[in-house]
Amino acid sequence: MSELLNLFGFLSVLLRAVTLATQTLAVGGVVFMLVVARPLRLPADQSVEAMQRSWKRLVAVSALGLAAAQVISVGINSAVLMATADLSLGEVVGANFFLAGAVSVMASVSLALVARDSIHLEWHWTLALAVAIIAASVMTSHAVSRTEARAPLAAATALHQAATAAWVGGLPYLLLGLRRRSDEGVSEAITRRFSRLAMVAVAVLGTAGLVLSLFYIDSPAAVYGTAYGLMVSAKIVLFCVLLLLGALNFKTVRRSRPATMLFERLRCLAEAEVGIGFTVILAAAALTSVPPAVDLQAERLSGIEIGDRMSPRWPRLNSPGADELSEPTQQTLKKAQAAGAPLPQSFLPGGIATHPNTPADIAWSEYNHHWAGLMVLAIGLLALCWRTGRARWARHWPLMFLALAGFILLRADPENWPLGPNGFWESFADSEVLQHRAYAALLVAFGLFEWMVRTDRVRSTRAALVFPLICAVGGALLLTHSHSLGNVKEELLAEFSHVPLALAGVGAGWSRWLELRLPPAERQVPSWIWPSCFVLIGLLLLFYRES
Ligand code: HEM
Repeated sequence: MSELLNLFGFLSVLLRAVTLATQTLAVGGVVFMLVVARPLRLPADQSVEAMQRSWKRLVAVSALGLAAAQVISVGINSAVLMATADLSLGEVVGANFFLAGAVSVMASVSLALVARDSIHLEWHWTLALAVAIIAASVMTSHAVSRTEARAPLAAATALHQAATAAWVGGLPYLLLGLRRRSDEGVSEAITRRFSRLAMVAVAVLGTAGLVLSLFYIDSPAAVYGTAYGLMVSAKIVLFCVLLLLGALNFKTVRRSRPATMLFERLRCLAEAEVGIGFTVILAAAALTSVPPAVDLQAERLSGIEIGDRMSPRWPRLNSPGADELSEPTQQTLKKAQAAGAPLPQSFLPGGIATHPNTPADIAWSEYNHHWAGLMVLAIGLLALCWRTGRARWARHWPLMFLALAGFILLRADPENWPLGPNGFWESFADSEVLQHRAYAALLVAFGLFEWMVRTDRVRSTRAALVFPLICAVGGALLLTHSHSLGNVKEELLAEFSHVPLALAGVGAGWSRWLELRLPPAERQVPSWIWPSCFVLIGLLLLFYRES
């Protein structure tokens, strides 16, 4: 049970993210079919039928995905509640999250059946199912758990999520339509109609987001002084990037008669929009794991505290010995449990840090970040050298990632294998170790694949997409990871370097994706953006501090 509780924090945000992502896709498909496809009265020929089948298939798959995510999250929440609060199943069934989950499961399974033509229902009825899915999601949002302004906040949350579905959730259907249709006239009609829908959705999403932010973030100091404010700021940055990509696409669509190459460009930009759009949804899921800023009046970070911690200082290139480090909480808890002492009553499952780090612990961690920073900075500078076209030898830069992965495996968790007493397998129970090792594995896959692509050992265009995709996923995961309430201020100060790192990672991933996918004449700008993002990541790590 303690292993389950350990992963709880990490899993619950990931599950919320999967729920929001599948909800966005399923509801987005309903809106796309009803508002974009149906009014166009597309000709009933083979390729249109193939297109509509692929749209319906995506609605069915995402609706079933939503039902599965809901069943898992309601199951885990019920098990944890029954185990930790000693409640019976009967008592849990009446809880808000359980009822909301049940409504969402029934609506999404019905939607999947309609989309698979297993039950014959006029498509406008699917709108009712889509509304039920959004309503179920709002039932578990911050808005419904408030006493004041509940109705307007719930309405703003519903509009925000519905607009997200119409825009970000509709994009994959547009891409499917463009991919399956050869007739440019139909592609143009679908694109024009979707671009109008997207414009309305962006306006609604932005306005509702602003309303929610103005209520949940009660002052400018709460924007930088709380994890909630920081996460909303990260969303706003990604939202602005999406608006820029959207504006480029809008310009393409508004051309009198877009040529094939322009459709190519539109498709590539829309792919990046989908990637970044779903990253914002993952960030939104992390929002649910922290209390709204307005509810966190104490323990806010001041501008001075942030300035103190973030002001650049000479990096720490010498490390303390592993024997100088303090015993990690996990070890202390295990020993307490082995001695039969009860677990501490109030701590967030999965969020373990309950003892302050010693100066040696801090020095060890800063040393790790600074050397990792130096390696990533070198990677970015070498990639820029290569980009100039005058340094062919610099194309081997991806091999530096193997060194970085080895460094993380060796130094990220000194109490565990290979430096510490805890065995390799048993140490996977600690969610932080799990995250660090997942990143190290990611870096090895990263480096090897990209090196093979750069040295033409692998020529498939698909293989070349592995590096940008892993980059973008790594950045998104860094945005999504859960927060322990062990020490709110310390956690937030760590976020101050994690969030820009994550955004730079997402930027590097999708700009490299665009460089690979866009028509050759359009690759200039993205080909300089991603190496610059690596330089930025290197500098952020180099000036990372914990004291
Ligand atoms: C592409 C852009 C965006 C997407 C896809 C998006 C998506 C979402 C989603 C799915 C949620 C619900 C999270 C949940 O209930 O678990 C959410 C919540 C929220 N969003 Fe956005 N959002 C975007 C942009 C923005 C912007 C620009 C703002 C601010 C101006 C904003 C402010 C908020 C706030 C404050 C909440 C939290 C509400 C709460 O605490 O329950 N969002 N967003």
